[in-house]
Amino acid sequence: MTSIPDIFGTMAYGPAPEAVAPAHAWLERHGRRFGLFIGGTWTDPERETFETLNPATGKPLARLTQASAADVDRAVRAARAAQPGWWALGGHGRARHLYALARQIQKHSRFFAVLESLDNGKPIRESRDIDLPLVARHFYHHAGWAQLMERELPERVPVGVIGQIIPWNFPLLMLAWKIAPALAMGNTVVLKPAEFTSLTALRFAELCEEAGLPPGVVNIVTGDGRTGEAIVAHPDVDKIAFTGSTEVGRIIRTATAGSGKKLSLELGGKSPFLVFPDADLDSVVEGVVDAIWFNQGQVCCAGSRILVQEGVAARLVAKLKGRMETLRVGDPLDKAVDMGAIIAPVQLEKIEGLVRRGQEEGASLWQPSWSCPREGWFFPPTLFTEVSPAATIAQVEIFGPVVVLMTFRTPAEAVELANNTRYGLAASLWTENINLALDVAPQLQAGTVWINCTNVFDAASGFGGYRESGFGREGGREGLREYVKWAWEDGGTAERRKGGKSRRSRHIHPGAGSSSAVPPFRRSAVPPIDRTPKLYIGGKQVRPDSGYSLPVLDAAGRRIGEVGHGNRKDIRNAVEAAHRAEGWARATAHQRAQVLFYIAENLAARAEEFGRRLGERELALAVERIYTWAAWTDKYDGLVHHTPYRNITLAMPEPIGVLGIVCPDAWPLLGLVSTVLPAIAMGNTVVAIPSTSAPLPATDFYQVLDTSDLPGGVVNIVTGLRDELTPVLAAHDDVGGVWYFGTAEGSAEVERLSAGNMKRTWVDHGRGRDWSDPRQAEGQEFLEQATQVKNIWVPYGE
Ligand code: NAI
Repeated sequence: MTSIPDIFGTMAYGPAPEAVAPAHAWLERHGRRFGLFIGGTWTDPERETFETLNPATGKPLARLTQASAADVDRAVRAARAAQPGWWALGGHGRARHLYALARQIQKHSRFFAVLESLDNGKPIRESRDIDLPLVARHFYHHAGWAQLMERELPERVPVGVIGQIIPWNFPLLMLAWKIAPALAMGNTVVLKPAEFTSLTALRFAELCEEAGLPPGVVNIVTGDGRTGEAIVAHPDVDKIAFTGSTEVGRIIRTATAGSGKKLSLELGGKSPFLVFPDADLDSVVEGVVDAIWFNQGQVCCAGSRILVQEGVAARLVAKLKGRMETLRVGDPLDKAVDMGAIIAPVQLEKIEGLVRRGQEEGASLWQPSWSCPREGWFFPPTLFTEVSPAATIAQVEIFGPVVVLMTFRTPAEAVELANNTRYGLAASLWTENINLALDVAPQLQAGTVWINCTNVFDAASGFGGYRESGFGREGGREGLREYVKWAWEDGGTAERRKGGKSRRSRHIHPGAGSSSAVPPFRRSAVPPIDRTPKLYIGGKQVRPDSGYSLPVLDAAGRRIGEVGHGNRKDIRNAVEAAHRAEGWARATAHQRAQVLFYIAENLAARAEEFGRRLGERELALAVERIYTWAAWTDKYDGLVHHTPYRNITLAMPEPIGVLGIVCPDAWPLLGLVSTVLPAIAMGNTVVAIPSTSAPLPATDFYQVLDTSDLPGGVVNIVTGLRDELTPVLAAHDDVGGVWYFGTAEGSAEVERLSAGNMKRTWVDHGRGRDWSDPRQAEGQEFLEQATQVKNIWVPYGE
C-alpha cells in the first residue's frame, strides 16, 4: 500500500498562476500605447515609440513613447513651475500627499505586483511580498519625514528640480526610492524609468492623478539612454539621482562636471558573501538562494562571491548543489517558482558570454540537471568553484544567477578577499560568533553589511555604495541629505545652475592673500625673512621633488619667503604616506579628540608669531574652530534603526579614507583648519594643498602639528601651484575623495577627473563661502562630507 510519505515524495508541483486579467485589461484600455506624463497631463502616444516585451514569453506588452529632448524640456519646465507651490505647501501638506500615495499603492498592490512581474520577469512571490510592501513602506516613511522636515532639518531647503534615472531590475521600488524622499523634502521630479520596464511607472503616474497630486510635481518620461542623456544635460535640472551600471554612472559624472548639479549614483557591485566555519550551513544555503537567485541575480547588491572557510567548503558545496537541484525556474506569474526570466536577450547574452569566459579561464561550472523553459529568456542557477580571485567572473558584475565560490583560511584573509574588488555596495557575513561578526563588519568596504541575513532593505536604513559602487544614500536620515541644500547657500538655485560666478585662482603674486575676505593685518610690518619651508609628508619636512621653490610676496610686493614647489611626484608620495597612516581611523574618537585639542593648545601657545603673520582675528577664529572640530570628534555618532524582520540596523559613519583637500585661498590658516581638521576628526587622513597665494601660515602650522602627537602621515601638506597640483589629486586612483574650494573651472575639473575611480567630490563651483561665519564654515555639512554611512544589519532571535 502506498504510504503518505510516498505520496509526498512523488507529488509534483502543479501550476499556481496569479490572475493576470486585470493587468491585461488595463493595457487594453490604453490600446497598449502610452504617452508621457508631463505637467499632470498625458501626451499623445502616436509618435516615436518602442516596444516593451514580456521576458517570460518574448511577446510584446505595449508600445511606449520615446521622449525627445523637447519632451524632457517640457517636463523640466513643468517641474520647475510646480516646485515653489509644492514647497510652499509645507511639511504637513506634503505629508498628506505622500500618505495618500502610500495608501493608493497598498490598495492597488496586487495589480502592481502582477504588472511588474509581467514586464520584468521577476517571480510574483518577490514582486508581491518584497517589492510592493517596500514601495508602500517608502512612501509612508517619507510622509513622516515630510511632516518632520521643518523641525528635524531646520535651515535646509529643497534642491529644486530633480532628474531621476532608474534601472529595470526593481522598477517600481527604485521609483519609490527616488520619488518619495525627493517629494518629502519639497522637490519636484522628472523621472525616467528603464526602457525595458516602464509600465508600473506609468500606472504610478495615473495614481498621482487619482490621488490629486498637484500637476508637475511628478513627471514621467519614457525612453532609452537618449532620454536619460537629455535629462542629465538639461541646464535647469538641479540634481541627478541615478541607479544603474557603473559605466553609465561614470558618463553622468563626467557630463555633469562643473554644472553645479548635485549628484547621487547607485551603481554596480560584486558583493562578497562570507561564510565562517561556525556558521549554520543550512541557513547559509538559504542565504545564498536569497543572495544570488533573488530576482535571477539581477540585483546590484547580489551576493555573487561566496567566500567560505576552507574547512567547511566541501560541505557547503554539497548542500548548495542539493538545494539548486530543487529550485524551480519558470513562469514568473506562477506562485510556486523560485526564479523567473532574464530581462532581455541582451542581458542573457551577457550572462552566457561571461559564463563561457569563466569556463575558458579554468573555473569549474555546476548547474542543476533540469532544463529551463524554451520560450522566453531564462538562465539556470549556476555555481562556479575553483575560481581564482583574479578571474573575470570573480571581478566583473555578471548581473545574472551566477555565483562564484572561493575559499579562505583566516578572517584576515577573508577580509582581504572580500575587499579585492573595485566595488563596495554590500556584503553579507555568516557566523554564530557575534564578536567575530562585529569585528569583520567594519573592515568590509561596503555601504551595507548584513550579518546572518542578506538582501534585506528598509526605508529607515540608508543604502548606497563605497568606492566604484557610487556615492550618496537612499533611505534613512542620510538619504534626505541628497534632496536638500543649506538655506544660507548664496546665489540661490538660479545661480547654482549657471555654475556660480567664475573666479580664476590666483597664482603666487604680489599682494598675496590680499583677498577682500582676508582681514586687514599688519603685513607691511612683517620683516622680510629668508626661509624656504619644505613640504610636510609622512610627518617629516621634505624637499620638493623638483628641488625648486616659489617666492611668496607680501601686499607691498616684497618677498617674505619661499615655499616648496610641489609636483606630481610629491602628491603621489603624500598619498602613499596618507595611506600608511590609515591606522588613525582605528584610534578611538576620544584619542583623536585629544590630539585636536592639543593642536589648538599649541597653536594658541604660538599666538604671537601666528598673529603677526595673520592678524589676531584669524588666529582667534582658527583656535576656536579647532575647538569646535575637537568637540565634535567624539560626538558625531551613528544611529540605530528599528528595521523590520527582527533586526537592529547600525548606521555607522565611517571615514572615507584618504581625502585630498584643496584649501580656500583666502583665510590661509582659518581655511585650512576649517577643512582639514573635520576630515581628520572623523578618522580620514589628508593630503592638503594650502592657499596658493598665502601658503606660509600652512607651513608654520605643520610645526604645530609636529608637536601635537598627530601621527605622521595623517596630515600631509604640499605647497605649490594649485592649478598644477589639484588635477593630480583629483585623478589619483588611491584617493577616496577630494574637497575643492576655488574657482568654477577648478571645480569642474575636479568633478570630471574624479570619474576614474568614482571618488566622492565636494566642490564650491567658485561660489566661495565666508570662512569667518560659523554657519557656513563649521556646520555638520563638513562631518557629513567627511564620512560615509555603513549600515550593519544584525538580526536577533533564534
Ligand atoms: P544602464 O546603466 O545602461 O541603464 C540604467 C538607466 O540609465 C536606464 O534607465 C537607461 O535608459 C539609462 N541610461 C542609459 N544610458 C544613459 C546615458 N548615457 N545617460 C543617462 N541615462 C542613461 O544599464 P543597462 O544597460 O540597463 O544594463 C547594463 C548593465 O548594467 C547590466 O548588465 C548590469 O550589469 C548593470 N546594471 C546595474 C544595475 C544596478 O542596479 N547596479 C541596474 C541595471 C543594470
